[in-house]
Amino acid sequence: MIQIQEVNKTFRDEDTHVYALRDIHLTIDKGEAFGVIGESGAGKSTLLRLLNALERPDSGRVLVGDHQVNQLSRKDLRAYQKDVSMVFQQFNLLNNKTVEENVRLPLTLHQYDHPLTVDAVLNFVGLEDKKHSYPSQLSGGQKQRVGIARALISRPTLLLCDEPTSALDQNTTEEIVNVLKKAHEVFGMTIIVVTHELAVIKALCDRSAVMEDGRIVDIVSVQKSAELTDFKSYHERAIEVLTHA
Ligand SMILES: Nc1ncnc2c1ncn2[C@@H]1O[C@H](COP(=O)(O)OP(=O)(O)OP(=O)(O)O)[C@@H](O)[C@H]1O
Ligand SMILES: [Mg+2]
Repeated sequence: MIQIQEVNKTFRDEDTHVYALRDIHLTIDKGEAFGVIGESGAGKSTLLRLLNALERPDSGRVLVGDHQVNQLSRKDLRAYQKDVSMVFQQFNLLNNKTVEENVRLPLTLHQYDHPLTVDAVLNFVGLEDKKHSYPSQLSGGQKQRVGIARALISRPTLLLCDEPTSALDQNTTEEIVNVLKKAHEVFGMTIIVVTHELAVIKALCDRSAVMEDGRIVDIVSVQKSAELTDFKSYHERAIEVLTHA
C-alpha cells in the first residue's frame, strides 16, 4: 500500500516560489492501477517522482509498503528503488545502444533477485525481431515498447508511467495501453499512470486522482471500458472537429 500524508513541495529560486504540491493525502492499494490527471503544471510529475524518491517532500510522509521513502538511508534507498520502474513520455532510450542493450541496462546497474530475461520481455512487448535494432530505426510506439520492456525486466512491484502515450498518435496509444494493461494483468504490480488523456485512464485504471494547481481536488472511481471506445480514429475526429461549428 502507498500512503502519501500531508505532503507539501515547493520549488524556489531567487524570485519565484512554485507550490508544486499542496497538502497531498492519498492512499493507493497494492496492485491497484491508479491514474493521475490534470492540466500542465498541476503537479502530476512531481507527485509521481515522490514515489521513487527523485523528489523529496518539504513536509509530510511518503510510505510505500514498509518503507518511509523520504527517510531511507542511501543504501536502503538503492534497495527500494530496485522495486520501482519508470516509463517516460520521451522513452529515454540510449541511442547508441541496441534494443537488447537498452532493455538489459537495469540488470547491468543492479543485482536483481528474480529478473526476467531480455528475450522474455521483448517477446512480451512483441519486439523479439527488433533485438539488434537501434532506437533510431524504430517507430515511436516501438520505442515505447522497448521502454516498457526495460521497465519490466526487473519485475518491479511499482510501475510509474509519466505520460507514456503523450508522444504517440491514437492507434499507437491504443497499442501501448494494451501492453501496459497486459503487464498489469500478468505481473500484478501497482501501476500509476500520469496523463492528460482521459481515454488512457478509462482503459487502464481503477481510480484516478484529479489534480489542479498542486492539489488533489477529486478521486474518481473509473468505470472501465473493455473496448477503448474513447479512441476515435483520426478520420472520425477530423470530421467531428472540422465539420461542426
Ligand atoms: N525542478 C523544478 N524546479 C522548479 N520548478 C519546478 C520543478 N519541477 C516542477 N516545477 C514546477 O512545479 C509545478 C508542477 O510541475 P509538474 O512537472 O509536477 O507538473 P505536471 O502536472 O507534471 O505538468 P505537465 O503536464 O506539463 O508535465 C510547475 O509549476 C512546474 O513549473
Ligand atoms: Mg509532467
